[in-house]
Amino acid sequence: MKKTSILGLGAMGARMAARLLQHGYPVVVYNRTPERTAPLREQGADVAATPREAAERADVVISMVRDDAAAQDVWLAEGTGAVHGLRPGAVAIEPSTVTPAWARRLAAAVAARGASFLDAPVVGTRPHAESGQLIYLAGGEGAVLDQVRPMLDVLGGAVHPVGPVGAGAVMKLAVNALFAVQAVALAELLAMLTASGLEPAAAVGVLNALPTSSPAAARVATRIVERAYAPNFPIHLVAKDLGYASSVAREAGVGATVVEAALSAFEEAQRRGYGGDDIVGIARCYPIGAAHGAG
Ligand SMILES: NC(=O)c1ccc[n+]([C@@H]2O[C@H](COP(=O)([O-])OP(=O)(O)OC[C@H]3O[C@@H](n4cnc5c(N)ncnc54)[C@H](OP(=O)(O)O)[C@@H]3O)[C@@H](O)[C@H]2O)c1
Repeated sequence: MKKTSILGLGAMGARMAARLLQHGYPVVVYNRTPERTAPLREQGADVAATPREAAERADVVISMVRDDAAAQDVWLAEGTGAVHGLRPGAVAIEPSTVTPAWARRLAAAVAARGASFLDAPVVGTRPHAESGQLIYLAGGEGAVLDQVRPMLDVLGGAVHPVGPVGAGAVMKLAVNALFAVQAVALAELLAMLTASGLEPAAAVGVLNALPTSSPAAARVATRIVERAYAPNFPIHLVAKDLGYASSVAREAGVGATVVEAALSAFEEAQRRGYGGDDIVGIARCYPIGAAHGAG
């Protein structure tokens, strides 16, 4: 089993590290806020003081941090960045939701060290990370993917190779934007339905029974009615991903009107203090029955 370093022990990274430990992998962990390493140490992980040290001790290095800026800190920081500690022949993996431009820049830095790179963002949230049901969207060479496949199979239920480095990142942004657009559209339409006198649970029951609702939209609609705002995929990350999707579309010279409208809605939710709520919490910005309107 390849010794694996996990850089970033937030909601997702901590669960991924725990899962690898449960399956017998030797794991090294690093987190910017060191207190978050304690539960993993108790579960058997080796703790590194810097990302570089974590990379020096491993065959596979995975970062799971917030965004491009965080990834840049853990991989490239002068002196302490993981890239500086990569062993020749090691595999570096970036499953954080980042831009394709960052994935390509990191791939070049990793190649300069004689190591390999996989751009491998994940679909799925906290329960999927816990139960090994993440879905990988892999950008990179098939031979590199083959090297780490057994480890990815512990963390995930499926791997979709989607093209060269950068393709995984842009595919993931499209997936999240599609999800977010549906969530905000549902909140808006449920406000329209309830303002027109329909009862929210009954309206959702009908919407969810129709072929026009996707499985993801149906789950969101049900959770809006349940007011299930405890975070899995929090609004602050949704806004980050929509911002990245909008930038990628603009750089590619294509329009992103709907994505940008959704971005404005999620930014407004953050301004109202709902950034830590689940994506479903977007409903708190809309008057869907008395309790929702009150936020
Ligand atoms: N939550 C989901 O449902 C989900 C699903 C799929 C993909 N993702 C993506 O996976 C990544 C992690 O998500 P998460 O839910 O685990 O986020 P999270 O709980 O907010 O954790 C963020 C992690 O990033 C670290 N970090 C932030 N800024 C940093 C910096 N400048 N330097 C070093 N470390 C920094 C944090 O360290 P500290 O502890 O020091 O703050 C923490 O370890 C994100 O890219 C997210 O978009 C999330």
